[in-house]
Amino acid sequence: MNTSLHKSINEENIALLVRRFYTEVIKDPLLAPFFIQILGEDIHNEKWEEHLILLTEFWKFVALGYDEYKGNPLRPHLDISGINRGTFSVWITLFHHTVDTIYTPSAGEFFKQKSTDIATNFIRKLDL
Ligand code: HEM
Repeated sequence: MNTSLHKSINEENIALLVRRFYTEVIKDPLLAPFFIQILGEDIHNEKWEEHLILLTEFWKFVALGYDEYKGNPLRPHLDISGINRGTFSVWITLFHHTVDTIYTPSAGEFFKQKSTDIATNFIRKLDL
């Protein structure tokens, strides 16, 4: 079931979205350190590959209703010290920018809305 109602959103472009986004994340001076300290500097290493697969499953669940994702989205963020509203704001700006490089405005709006809603939820639950 395609819960996004956008036929242009599919597994292939979600995989591209995730890879392109984290390729930008590790170049971002503010965001990179949070990821590098857990996953390392090389996006091609095993830990990064697991993260990219997990995040691809996550967005396939959100956008397409696929059920491979079995994680807990909030969990790892509870242990990251130093994140604040500003960090989330940079994350959101970069994610939305990446979305714009792949999707038409109407399909992109789906990812922008979802990511903003989830980030807002994280900020509330993390008490930031
Ligand atoms: C300040 C912003 C953020 C930072 C620094 C951050 C960082 C991280 C890190 C370090 C991990 C753990 C990687 C690992 O151990 O494999 C992670 C996992 C994850 N992140 Fe974020 N993240 C941020 C925002 C978001 C947002 C806004 C979303 C969703 C829209 C998101 C979705 C996820 C998901 C789904 C996971 C995997 C959870 C699981 O274990 O199942 N993150 N993130």
